[in-house]
Amino acid sequence: MAAGRHDSNIPDEDRISRFDIGVAHPARVYDALLGGKDNFTADRAAAEAGMRAFPASGSSVRANRAFLARTVEYLAASAGIRQFLDIGTGLPSASNTHEVAQAIRPESRIVYVDNDPIVLAHAEALLTSTRPGITDYIDADLRDPGKILSKASRTLDFTRPVAIMLIGVLHFIPDSDDPQGIVDALTAAVCAGSYLTISHLTKDHYPAEMEAFVRAVNEGTQEKSILRAHQEVSGFFRGLELIDPGVVQVSRWRPRSETEASATAGLWGGMGRKAA
Ligand SMILES: C[S@@+](CC[C@H](N)C(=O)[O-])C[C@H]1O[C@@H](n2cnc3c(N)ncnc32)[C@H](O)[C@@H]1O
Repeated sequence: MAAGRHDSNIPDEDRISRFDIGVAHPARVYDALLGGKDNFTADRAAAEAGMRAFPASGSSVRANRAFLARTVEYLAASAGIRQFLDIGTGLPSASNTHEVAQAIRPESRIVYVDNDPIVLAHAEALLTSTRPGITDYIDADLRDPGKILSKASRTLDFTRPVAIMLIGVLHFIPDSDDPQGIVDALTAAVCAGSYLTISHLTKDHYPAEMEAFVRAVNEGTQEKSILRAHQEVSGFFRGLELIDPGVVQVSRWRPRSETEASATAGLWGGMGRKAA
């Protein structure tokens, strides 16, 4: 039986007005890059423009998904984590956070957060857990950590360790919206022994291609992506102990095979732990 909880306070007219399919949205562009079917013409156009600029875009997003799966596996299997706060969930795809975590620890509790109404609609149908675990879904913006933390507390016990997942989402938060302040608010709310995992677009590995990719995709989307350098992404982990191998190309974070390790990826990825 499904054990899931979802925000039901969003008025229908509000949901409908937010379904503007004429403008590309990050969740659906990402889905198109992954070869998914939950996207519209504007999303496919933005994804195709991105692929023309950076032909390895498909490999890059798959490497990011594989990073997500490996980090959740590490957290559940090696770090003893049973609670996940996954912000910027994306459309359901292969190896969603609750599937990886609950395959290892069935009692895992997962709270998903996204600001895309189509992710909300799919999450209600698909991001459901099997008992004894639970999934919850919050329709919220990363820029509002107070709302996220307050709603997440109906499912997560913040006196016990929580893994905060910011996979492929911080690059939608410009410096003017204080991404460091948002990360600090989230990590301040969790107890010692909690973790923060981040992946973030960068041009450090493929400068010309990634600049062209972001320019091309940003032309079609309202939410603009920002490329950040290694030092900036590492800075988000301030006050935390970095887990080996530190902030590396996502494909190089504890790869399971040579094929995973050598995948083209224009993202930095890392994990930090909050010490006592
Ligand atoms: C590139 S996708 C990443 C999906 C998933 N985390 C993964 O790595 O496979 C980025 C997701 O972040 C969501 N997103 C973008 N800006 C956001 C914001 N300000 N608040 C909440 N979610 C956001 C998008 O709707 C999208 O689902």
